[in-house]
Amino acid sequence: VLNLAEPTSPGWAARACGQLDELLLDHAHCEKKAAGAALQLVFRYPGEARVVAAAAPLAREELAHFERVLVALQARGLRFRPQRPSPYGARLHALVRRSEPERLLDLLLVSALIEARSCERFRLLADAVPEPELAALYRDLLASEARHHGVYLELAQAVSPHAEARLGELARAEAAILREPPPFARLHT
Ligand SMILES: [Fe+2]
Ligand SMILES: [Fe+2]
Repeated sequence: VLNLAEPTSPGWAARACGQLDELLLDHAHCEKKAAGAALQLVFRYPGEARVVAAAAPLAREELAHFERVLVALQARGLRFRPQRPSPYGARLHALVRRSEPERLLDLLLVSALIEARSCERFRLLADAVPEPELAALYRDLLASEARHHGVYLELAQAVSPHAEARLGELARAEAAILREPPPFARLHT
């Protein structure tokens, strides 16, 4: 249902559990970026009524996730600060075609895949993280991210008859990006 071409490699969750502080900070940045990406759709496509109607509540929800992760950071005695991002997002966005209507389709599908990967990894983390509060946070968020995946996918199908085929291409590219050796601990490495 998540339309990922490949599952996360075994051992990822155990590695992530060894770097929970870094991971949580990255998670905060990911929620912030998810809110920004949704809001950016509203800015870029004010004439696309369906996109605007779906993206505005998404932006609000992702910002609420961001605030929850800020609280979790604070509870661990950490503060939100700049962090070198994983190459994942930039690599995926480099696949977005420049001309319309392909650009909108690709933006929606890239977001759909990021949501799907987040959902998959929150599930892994929910089972692997030894700290109950943190495991509960991941368990809580994975349902939202699964729903967001569905929202982006439905939008993509609504704006283009080529959504399925392009999703397959981008999903394979996404899996290939993750197969590259992780440079440092991030949610999407
Ligand atoms: Fe989120
Ligand atoms: Fe999301």
